[in-house]
Parts: sequence; C-alpha cells; structure tokens
Amino acid sequence: MRALTFTPDLSFETVPDPVPAPSQALVQVSAFSLNFGEIAFRSPDARPGHVPGWDAAGVVVQPAADGSGPAAGTRVVTFGWSGAWAELRAVDTAELAVVPGTVDLGQAAALPVAGVTALQAVRRLGPVAGRRVLVTGASGGVGRFAVQLAARAGAHVIASAGSPARAAGLPELGAAEIVIGPENLRGRVYGVLDNVGGPQLAQAFYRLEDDGVVMAIGRAAREATVIDFELAGTRSARGRIENFNVTAPFGADLAHLVGLLADGELDVRVGLRGPWDRAREAAEALLSRRVAGKAVLDVRRAS
Ligand SMILES: NC(=O)c1ccc[n+]([C@@H]2O[C@H](COP(=O)([O-])OP(=O)(O)OC[C@H]3O[C@@H](n4cnc5c(N)ncnc54)[C@H](OP(=O)(O)O)[C@@H]3O)[C@@H](O)[C@H]2O)c1
Repeated sequence: MRALTFTPDLSFETVPDPVPAPSQALVQVSAFSLNFGEIAFRSPDARPGHVPGWDAAGVVVQPAADGSGPAAGTRVVTFGWSGAWAELRAVDTAELAVVPGTVDLGQAAALPVAGVTALQAVRRLGPVAGRRVLVTGASGGVGRFAVQLAARAGAHVIASAGSPARAAGLPELGAAEIVIGPENLRGRVYGVLDNVGGPQLAQAFYRLEDDGVVMAIGRAAREATVIDFELAGTRSARGRIENFNVTAPFGADLAHLVGLLADGELDVRVGLRGPWDRAREAAEALLSRRVAGKAVLDVRRAS
C-alpha cells in the first residue's frame, strides 16, 4: 500500500499492508488530520517503513477477528499512535467510533487527538459552570475544540490567540472574551487549558484564582517555561499546574464527539483541506501558524 513516511521529509513510500491483531479492525482510510505534536515532536530515529499518523477516518474492510467492533462496510473514525497516514490502517476496536452517514469523513478525521484531548482536559478541570476559563493557543486544533467544550460546560471562556486575525471565528465558537496573549488578560481565572507552554504558561499561572488550576496540555511555543514563584503580588494562594496527557481508551470519548458533530453541536473548524499529495505543504502551514483549526488531507488511491 501507499503511505506517507518521514524519509526523512514527508513523502510517499510503498510499505507492506498492516496485519491486524485479533482485536483490530482493518480500515480503508479516506482522510486523516495532522497534529502539531506528531510533526514537531516526532522521533528522529523512526525505523524505515514506519507509518506515522494518529487520526484517520474511513471504512472497515475487515472486522476484528475476536468479534469486537463494527462490521465490514461501517464508516469509522480511528485514534492510534501510528499508522494513520496510509491507505489501510489496523486499529484496535476500543479506539474507534462509528460515523453516521450524515457526517463527512474528513470532518470526523479532525476529531481524534485534538477533540479527545480538549474533552478530557475540560473534564479534568472539574465543574466550570460560571467560572472563568482561559484557553491558550485557542486558534489551533485543540484550542478550537477546548473553547467550544468549555463553553458547553458553562464556563466563561477567554480565548487567547496570537493576533486578532488568528482569533477570527472564536466568538462564534463560544469565546466570551478574546485576548492577544495571556499577559493581556484582566482579572483572574479559575482554569487554564494551555496549549502553548513557555512564557504563556507562566503568564497564565500568574493569573490563577486561589484554587485555580492550569492544565499543561501542550508546548506549541517549543520554549521552556520559567516561573518566578516569588514574584510579588502575582501568585495565587494554592493555584497549581497539572501535567496533562490524553489517556486511552479513546473510543467512548470519540463516540461522544461524533455524536455532537452529527447533532450540529460541535463545529469542526477545518482550516486547510486538500489531497494527501500536499501533506508537506500542509505540515509546514500548521507549524508556522497558518492553519485556523485543523488540517485535513484526503487519501487518493493511485489508479
Ligand atoms: N498532552 C497531550 O495529551 C496533548 C494532546 C494533543 C496536543 N498536545 C499538544 O498541544 C499543543 C497544541 O496542539 P494543536 O494540535 O492544537 O496544535 P496547533 O493546531 O498547531 O495549535 C497550536 C496553537 O498554538 C499557538 N502558538 C503559539 N506559539 C506558537 C509557536 N511558536 N508555534 C506554533 N504555534 C504557536 C498558535 O496560535 P496563535 O498563532 O494564535 O498564537 C497555534 O494555533 C501542541 O504542543 C501539541 O503537541 C498535547
């Protein structure tokens, strides 16, 4: 089959078809989305023929041998730590969700890592109804889902973006306020969903309420965070930073997000969409902050 691999730049390679384990379904991939982390933080020593990619949607061509999961012909969205950027993907049936015929597979492909991360991180904040929640990197993949899901949970959402242009569309997703960087935030916040790290994480921490919490999700800034715990007048009494990592199994959370999408209650902002031949260009656009939301690539089979 054809797959995109880092050889060393993103390019097509012919690799063996995946051999599913008994608990895995084989899926013909229609579309996948790109995530910042799988490109920016990829392992420099990937073995030859290794197929990267976390998020993919498509159609089951071979159900799992152990009888779990959907039948052949079912449309699904899948989450895994490799194998998405290919014509075929073997995926554990605990890590997929069925996609109804009314939902475009390209939209569904945008959900896995970014959507489930945002959902689990909002949940980790605890009850946020009526509380102020700051989302950094709100213009990105995780950020746009986080704004919507925190607003759905009743939070007063403050979306932080790099510029007014990068913040376009965020009020429509549920942001009550926009700030250009957390340093411009007025007042304190109960919760922070931080996708940027570096100085933005420090600035967000300084603005916590006494029992506030920062979910340290990402480090898109690729900079270390320096916090001055002695900075006069800036520190909350008990505010804390929690290390956040999206946690398996993902199937149930993915199904919840697909349901919201199908009901028109979740807006998947696909800021870039094109054929998978344009993966290199799309990856470059994502890393250089030129994608509003998610980048989705459609898999075209060679005729
Ligand atoms: N811990 C976990 O389980 C988990 C799960 C998913 C993702 N992540 C991490 O979360 C972060 C966000 O992921 P994502 O998929 O949402 O990425 P994304 O779509 O690329 O969005 C990242 C956002 O960060 C902002 N940003 C600020 N400084 C940046 C810089 N120097 N370079 C690039 N972006 C910068 C950008 O917004 P502006 O241009 O508006 O400033 C951008 O929209 C990444 O670090 C990713 O690895 C972690």
